[in-house]
Amino acid sequence: MKLKSQINDIIKDAFDKAGIKHEPMSVSEATKPEFGDYQFNGAMALSKKLGKNPREIAQNILDALDLTGVLAKAEIAGPGFINLWLNPLWIATQSQSALDDARLGVGVRENPIKVVVDYSGPNMAKQMHVGHLRSTIIGDTLANLLTFLGDEVIRQNHIGDWGTQFGMLIAYLEMKDEDGSLSLKDLEQFYKDAKAQFDANADFADKAREYVVKIQSGDSHCLKLWQRFIDISLGHCEEVYKKLGVNLTRDDVRAESFYNARLPKVIDALDAKGMLAQSDGAQCVFLEGEEIPVIVQKGDGGYLYATTDLAALWYRAEVLGAKRISYVVDARQSEHFKQVFKVAKEAGFVAEDVTLEHIAFGTMMDKGGKPFKTRDGGTVKLIDLLDEAVVKARATIHDKEAYSQEEIDELAKIIGIGAVKYADLAINRESNYIFNWDKMLSFEGNTSLYMQYAYARIQSIFRKHNAPIEGDIIIGDVLEHRLATMLLRFEDVLERAAVDASPHQITTYLYDLVTLFMRFYEQNPILKEGVELETKMSRLHLADLTAKTIKQGLDILGIKVVDKL
Ligand code: ARG
Repeated sequence: MKLKSQINDIIKDAFDKAGIKHEPMSVSEATKPEFGDYQFNGAMALSKKLGKNPREIAQNILDALDLTGVLAKAEIAGPGFINLWLNPLWIATQSQSALDDARLGVGVRENPIKVVVDYSGPNMAKQMHVGHLRSTIIGDTLANLLTFLGDEVIRQNHIGDWGTQFGMLIAYLEMKDEDGSLSLKDLEQFYKDAKAQFDANADFADKAREYVVKIQSGDSHCLKLWQRFIDISLGHCEEVYKKLGVNLTRDDVRAESFYNARLPKVIDALDAKGMLAQSDGAQCVFLEGEEIPVIVQKGDGGYLYATTDLAALWYRAEVLGAKRISYVVDARQSEHFKQVFKVAKEAGFVAEDVTLEHIAFGTMMDKGGKPFKTRDGGTVKLIDLLDEAVVKARATIHDKEAYSQEEIDELAKIIGIGAVKYADLAINRESNYIFNWDKMLSFEGNTSLYMQYAYARIQSIFRKHNAPIEGDIIIGDVLEHRLATMLLRFEDVLERAAVDASPHQITTYLYDLVTLFMRFYEQNPILKEGVELETKMSRLHLADLTAKTIKQGLDILGIKVVDKL
């Protein structure tokens, strides 16, 4: 349910009734329980416009306010705030219907749009490393979130599979892979070995250069080698996706090479628009107000990263029909995206009304605040990191007797992978992110384990209760009131997180929800003797809706829950 807009509508009605001709600003969630559930702060801003005292305006609004349905109480506070309390009866019926709904009361968009989410995008010449982790996790969450809200999401994995380094790599593959059984377990090492060969062996270097030209001109032998190399590399990435529980498949791959045939058309179209200028033999687009041009074709005819992205933008807008195109890529590429977005709009590759956004994120750092590296200074391979997470997660399972070996394996995976993902999603994505095993695998604080633990704890209440939950939700005290209100905010939170492409708004909400639930549970016993049946049932319902909301929230983040922990 869109809770906030319901309250805004009531305020708007009050404006009309009070004869105030201005658009009311939106209410906000109250920051303290004594301020009610929501607060309206618009009277202060209006006072200048209307030439009236803000408290007087607040009083006019309050007098016209409908307190018979959604709202039960309103009070003027301070210089002219209006504190608003939801009606407990209304909260009760609304949370009951959320509980009866498989979507927990979250609506499906009436006007869904097509959204392309470009994420992960590893380079095939090298092993996937931690730098790709954030793009993969944040991008997958955004895609899940928009899908849940009802948009038509097209996931695009813009893998780097083209460029001069592939000449060297496939020449080396041909040399090493005589019987076609090379598994390329370590791409990083393979790259190093190929490079060493390239530097030391002039014949090999010639061949590598020859192969660059040959793949580009479509030589079938070289293309076959290249295809084999890409298949193996992509296979490694897919292993990581599987471990991570990320929803990317081969069908989502639109590699850089996919756009090759479109690159000359990009140049022609820019030329036809009069947007091209020569600079040092290269074809460039100069943008207004910017000194450095976007180079789209080198002097030797070669194309660049930007050219491919222009072709991709064109394809996504024209062929895929996207109305929002979101690039989940490292913040260091922000200049690149700013430029290609401008060029694409100016050239008409993308219509004006299409939203283009760079969902930038910061760098992953180690505890000491340095870019994340292995002990010997190399890049940390993603697969090793994930395996380590599972090993560490196993150590957090205290009551090992309670599970079979298989259950422990499964549990360790769910906890470990969940911890890595959650820790990444829980910070403002634009900040750099400090990777800290101890913090992410803690049962306390804003961690996935804290959420998973709360979920399992609620399931254990149900196991103990071991009977159907009947009756209705009744809002009997302040904590029940606050918990139910928090649960009804779920859709508002998801909507906001979708607009801002900001998963941490979901984690913050889940953390607040679970913290509130823990307090509620401490003070409002459920199964204890002496609790009246009606109250007990109502509290079981609230616990149920809490657990379902945690599960749905974590599901959007790509994190699983367990019934027992
Ligand atoms: N392969 C690029 C890199 O690793 C990321 C690709 C992002 N997507 C895009 N359309 N440029 O930096």
